[in-house]
Amino acid sequence: MQSTSNLALLIPDSLTKFAYQAFQDGKKAFGVAHKTISDSLTDLALPDKRDRTQPLSPETLLKLQNQSKQLEETDWKDSQAGVYPSQVLFDNPWQDFFRYYPEVWLDMPKIWSRIQAKEYQAFDSKIDREGYPSYYLQNFHYQTDGYLSDLSANLYDLQVEILFNGSADAMRRRILKPLKEGLQAFTDVLPQQTRILDVACGTGRTLRMIRAAFDKAKLFGTDLSPAYLRKANQLLSEIPGELPQLLQANGEDLPYLDNYFHGVSSVFLFHELPPNARQAIIEECFRVLQPGGTFVICDSMQEVDAPDFQVMMSNFPVLFHEPYYRSYTTDNIEERLEKAGFTNVKIENHFVSKYWVATKPAV
Ligand SMILES: C[S@@+](CC[C@H](N)C(=O)[O-])C[C@H]1O[C@@H](n2cnc3c(N)ncnc32)[C@H](O)[C@@H]1O
Repeated sequence: MQSTSNLALLIPDSLTKFAYQAFQDGKKAFGVAHKTISDSLTDLALPDKRDRTQPLSPETLLKLQNQSKQLEETDWKDSQAGVYPSQVLFDNPWQDFFRYYPEVWLDMPKIWSRIQAKEYQAFDSKIDREGYPSYYLQNFHYQTDGYLSDLSANLYDLQVEILFNGSADAMRRRILKPLKEGLQAFTDVLPQQTRILDVACGTGRTLRMIRAAFDKAKLFGTDLSPAYLRKANQLLSEIPGELPQLLQANGEDLPYLDNYFHGVSSVFLFHELPPNARQAIIEECFRVLQPGGTFVICDSMQEVDAPDFQVMMSNFPVLFHEPYYRSYTTDNIEERLEKAGFTNVKIENHFVSKYWVATKPAV
């Protein structure tokens, strides 16, 4: 029989779990409601677009629901196991959410007119496009000004939450356990001397999660977008702990010394790169990692993982401008990692995402 003190310990946990599930269910309901309305409006504005996508079968929808539940269960278990504190499960940019949600709707007519005109590389004339790789100058997700404006940076987190029905952070958090396990290789390095880099950090959501799991580590983030880095700086300044160092840089040419970091991560980047850039970034991550260091990639599932989700994967680049997604879904990332010198490559799948955990061999 449970002792009273044991019960007292259990009650807050069960309440937290209940609150977490309610929080996730709320985000899911919001995402589904938003998409139902916006899809209907898009169908009216662009009747041809629907002809280029296929509906998901009830079996696929059920499978998605189950996998989303499994993701939440894993997320909960990892917090209980101490990989990160349970408060991080509730981290949400509420202020931005209320402030920028109307802008998501206001931006929609601009998106429709770009889709109609097949303009996928349209930028405001005031935006400086010098110095970026050509593959980057795209209106990814049909976003106004691609990744190059403050408005885009302000809307991004909200749009990703809607896209994944509130599961984006739970997917990002799946990098934390392998990163923690990998960093155990550095037994002689103090927590405050541990250096972790997030490549293509965007608005800093992943760095927020990393900070929760590694409260003393020195964190670094790079991205090509000055606007997203500004946003990351703002969001990361809100949390306690040393401010991560942010730098504007192409992941293909990282401004760091060889063998500098103990851990490197990259989340939702690889599907937005052409194949040669994927290889170049993997090689840069290998270069800047210390021998024995761990590299974790999180991105979309691929064709090989989910034959049942083929329809969804074919719809995705049509619904969201993603010019490199098709080549990504059939790319052999494991082979690329090994070509760069990584060993011990492990693969995980959670909900609609996939993870590669790789080690730079110790010398
Ligand atoms: C889909 S977002 C992912 C952002 C963030 N990691 C997250 O979890 O939300 C892709 C990010 O990659 C950045 N990016 C794309 N190509 C890049 C490159 N070659 N080097 C550095 N950043 C790049 C974009 O600016 C954008 O912030």
